Amino acid sequence: MSEFSPHHLFEAARDAMSKAHAPYSKFPVGAAILADDGKVYLGANIENLSFPQGWCAEPTAIGAMIMGGGKKVKSLAVIAEKLPLCTPCGGCRQKISEFASADTLIYLCDDAGVQKTVTMAELLPYAFETDTIG
Ligand code: THU
Repeated sequence: MSEFSPHHLFEAARDAMSKAHAPYSKFPVGAAILADDGKVYLGANIENLSFPQGWCAEPTAIGAMIMGGGKKVKSLAVIAEKLPLCTPCGGCRQKISEFASADTLIYLCDDAGVQKTVTMAELLPYAFETDTIG
């Protein structure tokens, strides 16, 4: 068993959700990434009075991972207070895929724990991928 079980990652995402700044949507979301360096990186959604300037929990966690030295998402848990099994939005799927593999596990949670596990490939089939850029 790895050091961080899916349930540990759920608990980390739930802790992250408590830091959400979501006064406009009142829809707190938390995300926790287990990265290739063995560390867990956290994120919550952070909204803004100028609504389009806010961002989701997942990019907060990705930013924490990159700045902390992690390079790849091994698994990711996401939780929303008001929506059991909240899945990452479309933009977040693309953002996660940049740092994930087809078999990266995404844990969808409710307030009790992980309720469904999907792979990155299931979450974002026909992902935008090309060798032409970069
Ligand atoms: N939200 C996330 O943080 N992640 C998602 O994948 C879905 C949506 C946030 C954005 C916004 O702050 C609130 O949930 C309502 O859309």
